[in-house]
Amino acid sequence: MNNLFRVAIVDPNDSTRESLKTMLLGMDLVWLEAECSRYEFFEDVIGQTSPDIGIVSLDSNADKAIDLISNITRDNPECSILVVSNTSDGQLILRTMRAGVKEFLTRPVGVEDLVGALERISSQKTGGANGKSRTCQVIAVCGATGGVGTTSIAVNLGCTLASGGKHSVALIDLDLALGDADVFLDTIPDYTLVDVAQNISRLDFTLLKRSLTKHSSGLYLLPRPVQLQDTALITPDNLQRVFGLLKASFSHLILDLSKSFNEVDMTALKTAQQVLLVTQLDLPCLRNVVRLMMSFEEVEGLKEKVKIVVNRVGLGSKDISLKKAQETIGTELFWQLPNDYRVMVEVRNNGVPIYEFAPRASITQSFQALGEALTGERVEVESKAGGSSGKWLSFWPGKTKGKTEPVSND
Ligand SMILES: Nc1ncnc2c1ncn2[C@@H]1O[C@H](COP(=O)(O)OP(=O)(O)OP(=O)(O)O)[C@@H](O)[C@H]1O
Ligand SMILES: [Mg+2]
Repeated sequence: MNNLFRVAIVDPNDSTRESLKTMLLGMDLVWLEAECSRYEFFEDVIGQTSPDIGIVSLDSNADKAIDLISNITRDNPECSILVVSNTSDGQLILRTMRAGVKEFLTRPVGVEDLVGALERISSQKTGGANGKSRTCQVIAVCGATGGVGTTSIAVNLGCTLASGGKHSVALIDLDLALGDADVFLDTIPDYTLVDVAQNISRLDFTLLKRSLTKHSSGLYLLPRPVQLQDTALITPDNLQRVFGLLKASFSHLILDLSKSFNEVDMTALKTAQQVLLVTQLDLPCLRNVVRLMMSFEEVEGLKEKVKIVVNRVGLGSKDISLKKAQETIGTELFWQLPNDYRVMVEVRNNGVPIYEFAPRASITQSFQALGEALTGERVEVESKAGGSSGKWLSFWPGKTKGKTEPVSND
């Protein structure tokens, strides 16, 4: 319950109240505490249910609604007020602001607008950037070159986070031409990113979830388009809208990027709060990391979000040392994943969650600890392997960050 916005709404108009309610009920991050059809009763409702956010529709009687808002902000200051209205009259907006509203949304209210407003209220409450956001965590995974393990990391991290049932996690394959996340999850999806992007204005949360494919780990997948020609239909603009809808429906989004760093990839990098840049310990990779980090400096706030993940540590004796790699890159190495070709290929070929196939392997534990380091929360997985069906494994408080021992099976 901690991660939810507890919301109460008041709107005397049945039809607009119903549509707002439907939107809120579809959002995983919202718990609808109460709905009310009379301004006169709403203050009592707030007093009894103590929601985090009260949503007030202005349009049935603006004067009554503004009086109500003044009373709530005076008597229940911990409840933030969000107003929805047909009007964009500056004077009226000013009056609501003076009454103490935190956000004002003009109808028709889009999902992205609502999510944005909830996020702003949340970050004001938790003290901005330093506070713990209760909204969706977006993690982008990109690689310093091809074949470096980007999809392996996106998929296995996604399965690990989704497994315990505590988080709702979706993976979006943004390698639009050659993405293979569906192969990793051994699934043939009915719909792809193109279907969702093209129907975004018609989709509600229920339809959205039906458009995604659910893996046995609990991870939802939105795959890349089937036809190469369809990749052109994914634009930064409609992708932003897809992200908006997904952010409202899931607690975690994992974005598997292509290696072209095109407009779509850059949109994903800007949207993400954390960016995992995957590298291996060879010269071409490390040189690309340096180049990419220099380019990322040009995009405001991007470089600061990047976390370097060294994959396949222990692969070969000709590898550059971790110390030398860190010196070359000039940035802390956030995480190391050991080389374990057998496990990684088996889980990919069979679409089995890594924690089920190899629950005790060092690489499995490293994925779990990575999930914990990224979310700041304990990650539990349910292993059905080895006759220990239903056994919950957890490594929290976990190993020292990134200090998994390299193993070589290649
Ligand atoms: N830690 C690891 N240990 C051993 N093998 C690994 C590891 N991580 C990934 N691999 C293997 O490396 C190969 C490439 O991985 P993957 O497809 O995830 O890379 P990618 O960066 O997504 O590639 P692409 O550029 O094609 O998108 C796969 O065969 C995978 O099993
Ligand atoms: Mg890939």
